[in-house]
Amino acid sequence: MEFYRIQLVAIVSLVLLFPSSTIGWGDDGHAIVCKIAQSRLSAAAAEAVENLLPKYAGKELEKVCSWADHVKFIFPWSSALHYIDTPDSLCSYEYSRDCKDENGVNGRCVAGAINNYTNQLQSYGSDTQYNLTQALLFLSHFMGDIHQPLHVGFTSDRGGNTIDVHWFTRKQNLHHVWDANIIETAEGRFYDSNIDEFINAIQQNITNEWSDQVADWEACSGNKTTCPDIYASESIQAACQYAYKGVSEDSVLGDDYFLSRLPTVNLRLAQGGVRLAATLNRIFG
Ligand SMILES: *[C@@H]1O[C@H](CO)[C@@H](O)[C@H](O)[C@H]1NC(C)=O
Ligand SMILES: *[C@@H]1O[C@H](CO)[C@@H](O)[C@H](O)[C@H]1NC(C)=O
Ligand SMILES: *[C@@H]1O[C@H](CO)[C@@H](O)[C@H](O)[C@H]1NC(C)=O
Ligand SMILES: *[C@@H]1O[C@H](CO)[C@@H](O)[C@H](O)[C@H]1NC(C)=O
Repeated sequence: MEFYRIQLVAIVSLVLLFPSSTIGWGDDGHAIVCKIAQSRLSAAAAEAVENLLPKYAGKELEKVCSWADHVKFIFPWSSALHYIDTPDSLCSYEYSRDCKDENGVNGRCVAGAINNYTNQLQSYGSDTQYNLTQALLFLSHFMGDIHQPLHVGFTSDRGGNTIDVHWFTRKQNLHHVWDANIIETAEGRFYDSNIDEFINAIQQNITNEWSDQVADWEACSGNKTTCPDIYASESIQAACQYAYKGVSEDSVLGDDYFLSRLPTVNLRLAQGGVRLAATLNRIFG
């Protein structure tokens, strides 16, 4: 109990100290991915997820979908697990070449972390050495991150973090535009600033517009439980085709950019949610 309180105080003060920390889809992007995923769980997976969720989540995965961002400060080893740096301008990803941290340690990237926490969760129901609550929260968060195109970006600009732009009239960096600004502008303009209306619109497209693609999104070749290399390859391709395209230092990004990139953001949020559910359904049977 005391430990919880200290942890909570630490987290709250860190959040207050670093209010604009930008790692991963913003809170809304992550909540959207997790809410879509939880609505698609099998009975067995839904039960396992409920058992593993911390009490304060009130059985809602979306409530703890940004946990992994908040613990970057108390688990510094985890910050390299949110992204992948790929070679500049190459627009491709390869696990053996790119999935490593700044010290060159293999497997320490978001794709390696998804494999890691998927493997850990497969020990659910047996006597396990792992903290499966943490494994669930990490996996749920990283499945969102790997679908954010600029989380699989170029090395020298740190996935757009060092590219300064204007989002309409506001100074911003390109990475943050994709984490949060496109989503927030869409919510404000089209969905009454109501995240649930935005989620409903995505859900409707999953069942109508994209219904014939969903099985492909869910599939993993060779009986694998999860396929982060596919998701990462798609992301760097979308980063080149949409996120970086036409953008340079000090670009002003307004309606042209917003309206032409929003469909990609909608699609990646949908795929993240569908694939998190598919992975959890395979893990928990
Ligand atoms: C795997 O999970 C363990 C436990 O959280 C962690 O210590 C380790 O750094 C993780 N490695 C990767 C590549 O995710
Ligand atoms: C597992 O991790 C959660 C979240 O960090 C923590 O609250 C809980 O105390 C941990 N459980 C054990 C048994 O260590
Ligand atoms: C849903 O699909 C329609 C038709 O393609 C599109 O106009 C709309 O923007 C999409 N909405 C979302 C949230 O994906
Ligand atoms: C997938 O698993 C099934 C059942 O375990 C097996 O029969 C099949 O050969 C496997 N397919 C591949 C591609 O490994």
